Amino acid sequence: MKPKPRKLSSAMLAKRKKTDVSESRLNAIKKMAKPRKKRVIVHLGNVGSGKTKVGTIKINHFPAQKTFAYAKKFPNFKFIGIDALHLGLYMQIKPKNMNQIKAGFKGGLGKLKDNSVDLISSEMALGYYGSKFKGVNKSQKGNYREYTKKVTERAYKKLKSGGKLLIALDSDIIASVFDSLVSVGFKPENIKAKLMTKKESQRTYWLENYKKEHQGIIFYQLSAVK
Ligand SMILES: C[S@@+](CC[C@H](N)C(=O)[O-])C[C@H]1O[C@@H](n2cnc3c(N)ncnc32)[C@H](O)[C@@H]1O
Repeated sequence: MKPKPRKLSSAMLAKRKKTDVSESRLNAIKKMAKPRKKRVIVHLGNVGSGKTKVGTIKINHFPAQKTFAYAKKFPNFKFIGIDALHLGLYMQIKPKNMNQIKAGFKGGLGKLKDNSVDLISSEMALGYYGSKFKGVNKSQKGNYREYTKKVTERAYKKLKSGGKLLIALDSDIIASVFDSLVSVGFKPENIKAKLMTKKESQRTYWLENYKKEHQGIIFYQLSAVK
């Protein structure tokens, strides 16, 4: 049953006025009710190729597919892709809340403000490549360990306190990437490794292909909070 609205006497009304929300409380409430600040999300090595489906047709090479999809799903967040490869014509159809920086991981991160990023994510990118980008199929060539450490160091600088670095990688390189994370300041207790499910480890063209080429490989999602 609906409660009947109470009739207030003038004395009660006067009392209610007195106990009305104070100015400062009102301001505090307004502040809390304000929409949260835009989250800034960076995708390292996002161009590569992602797979998608248009109707029943499978497309294996859709550049920056993940960044496109997330930027559309979260229009209030800002997405920044960093990749040595160019997005090409896709630059013209990218969502408005997505920027693409054509640069190396380290140089691209260098363009961002310190302590400004909420999340930096990488799949089959950070940990595999050296400073001289030699092509997507030339991973683990050159100074890739040293470069990974330099990129992680910069990523740490760019993350806000409480910000997260999320890295999808395989069992062969997880230990060296973990060491890099610790050496640049991430606390070991803030680093977690999660085994990817079968479905997760098939979500991109690269994960699927790498598995075919490296028998027995296991994929992990490594997360490190600043
Ligand atoms: C194997 S692909 C992975 C692409 C995507 N993340 C995925 O899982 O489908 C690696 C990506 O990293 C980029 N990349 C590799 N080394 C790089 C570097 N040093 N600086 C910038 N981008 C790099 C490549 O251009 C490519 O887009």
